[in-house]
Amino acid sequence: MKETVLKKFAEVFGDTEGVSVYFAPGRVNMIGEHTDYNGGHVFPCALTIGTYAAARKREDDKLRFYSMNFENLGVIESSIVDLKPEKEAGWTNYPKGVMWAFEKRGFKMPGGLDIVLNGNIPNGSGLSSSASLEVLTGYLLRDLFGFDVTNVDLALIGQYSENNFNGMNCGIMDQFASAMGKKDNAIFLDTADLSYEYAPLVLEGAKIIVTNSKVKHQLVDSEYNVRRSECEKALEELQMVIGIGGLGDLSEEQFEEYKSAIKDEVRVRRAKHAVYENQRTIRAVEALKNNDIKLFGELMNASHVSLRDDYQVSCGEIDILVEEAWKIPGVVGSRITGGGFGGCTVSIVKDEAVEEFKEKIGAAYQEKTGKQADFYVVEIGDGPSKL
Ligand code: GLA
Repeated sequence: MKETVLKKFAEVFGDTEGVSVYFAPGRVNMIGEHTDYNGGHVFPCALTIGTYAAARKREDDKLRFYSMNFENLGVIESSIVDLKPEKEAGWTNYPKGVMWAFEKRGFKMPGGLDIVLNGNIPNGSGLSSSASLEVLTGYLLRDLFGFDVTNVDLALIGQYSENNFNGMNCGIMDQFASAMGKKDNAIFLDTADLSYEYAPLVLEGAKIIVTNSKVKHQLVDSEYNVRRSECEKALEELQMVIGIGGLGDLSEEQFEEYKSAIKDEVRVRRAKHAVYENQRTIRAVEALKNNDIKLFGELMNASHVSLRDDYQVSCGEIDILVEEAWKIPGVVGSRITGGGFGGCTVSIVKDEAVEEFKEKIGAAYQEKTGKQADFYVVEIGDGPSKL
């Protein structure tokens, strides 16, 4: 991949003198969905797929972007002066947002850049191609301009840019998983204070499989922001009766005791998901530590039911993938992963059932939706790097 982006850089910008190449990964979340903006826990891991960039500093203020994923758009030009989101800027609003967020933190770029990008995360799959692009941009700015920030800062800057430049009120999970990834480990992150620990995720006799539904419903951004405000409102209502900082502070028992403070039935269900999902995540990591994969799988299944029924972020296509998976005896657990309304499922599948999994689910999905699902055996990789 390094050679591919370098070659393209030479083609687009003339030569590769002084060019550096970088990588930042996408992520898959094992459990802990829609908990990261509720002060709860998440359990994602970085993938070995992600976004690559070849970049070089410029003497003037110009920014020139080229993406191998959108070759029809050609070179998109901009400037480091007066960075603001623009509809015509398309995907370059992500790297520009990160530059803007660095500036807000007092790190001003002394000059512009020429950048060629190439990503191998399937488009719209919910495996965080945007977070990987944000972390990649932060990583290369730090390297090229010597900005003094940590990898956790890179995650926070990426999230800040996505919230405030690109208008998506995401939590910290995706950027954190990309910036802090560790080979063969998932990250058990408490989003209330960003404390985290790594947990080895090499399963004996089983594989982690991501199934791409290849659908992305338009709802994703708007409904995501709606869910987030429903949770905020439910929290305010609960705070009238109990002193908590986030829904993640509540046990299931406390939630049941105080839930009547929430004055709307839909909000009760949203908050219930946030509280129960957080507790499931804590239990799932405990189960993993005890080598109890069976329990881990059951918690994944319960997570899906809650996301489908209470949080209502699944969709017909994803439910088919999950329900077909549940029918196969060698499937330990299966659930939707990521923001929802399409994208991917994540499943733990015993080695001997992997072929059956792909065949049966592929066929049932094709029959019921007319679409072809894609399957990837997950390889857990490291965070960003200079190649
Ligand atoms: C998206 C967001 C994350 C997280 C997940 C749901 O991926 O970017 O912050 O909220 O949805 O768990």
